[in-house]
Amino acid sequence: MNEQTALIVKKISDLPPLSASTLAIINMLSADHFHMKELVNLIQQDVSLSTLCLKTVNSAAFGLSKPVDTIQRAVTFLGSQKLTELALKTSVGKIVKVRLAGYGAMEMDLWEHSLKSAIAARLIGPNIDPNLNADLAYALALTHDIGKVVFSALLEVKVRELQKAQGQQTNFLAIESDLFQCNHAEVGAMLAREWNLPQVFIDVIAHHHTPSLCPAPHRSLALVVHLADLLAMLSGTGTGVDSLYYELDPLALDLIERDARWHEEEIWKLILNLNYEFNLVLQNEAMAS
Ligand SMILES: [Fe+2]
Ligand SMILES: [Fe+2]
Repeated sequence: MNEQTALIVKKISDLPPLSASTLAIINMLSADHFHMKELVNLIQQDVSLSTLCLKTVNSAAFGLSKPVDTIQRAVTFLGSQKLTELALKTSVGKIVKVRLAGYGAMEMDLWEHSLKSAIAARLIGPNIDPNLNADLAYALALTHDIGKVVFSALLEVKVRELQKAQGQQTNFLAIESDLFQCNHAEVGAMLAREWNLPQVFIDVIAHHHTPSLCPAPHRSLALVVHLADLLAMLSGTGTGVDSLYYELDPLALDLIERDARWHEEEIWKLILNLNYEFNLVLQNEAMAS
């Protein structure tokens, strides 16, 4: 094992695993089948998620006239979509709310980028494929850049080479691959495998910059995440040095060319809508905390 691989493996094993309840919710979401009773049991065993569910459902943002004091009732009020959001945000948030020195990103940058991409994926998902599971698209977009948490440490080691490459290349993923023979998308897929996430997460995380190379069953979802990532960056929520080096995949270029919903004016309308939804989520979170 070379030094670089050893560092990746060490960084991956240092990260906290996803909670058992989050993993179970992700599996239900990926199988497109929620068992509410099983969900209640899982949440009841997870103290922090139970507390968060009760806190959220009893917050001013929900506007209920009577307080909710059981998980069963909280789950009914929240519904599977909101529950998935809460479980993922709690688990993934813990991991991605870190400063990424290698990318020049501050502590909340990756979290805000991931959250905005997730909201964008839910917004655009049905336009790209009407049969697509928008909540799954949300979960995939929330986790798409987890590899950066590990990859940042590699970039820190080669600061000079990185600066030189930035002057010569226009695609940050290519810079990563040139310098390290792997990139943050591949490392993210390794992390997804380590966490025992379903295959759709491994495929989409690995191909969120290259959806045209994604295995066919998950290609539409990879395209949604790729475009959601772009919208988040265009709306001003990037992750540091790589934001100006975003290269569109041929599948996305083809869609933008042939579909009027992706013409420039429409993209700016989408970004306005995305910023509105994002600010609403932040406001509701502030009310619930
Ligand atoms: Fe990425
Ligand atoms: Fe991203």
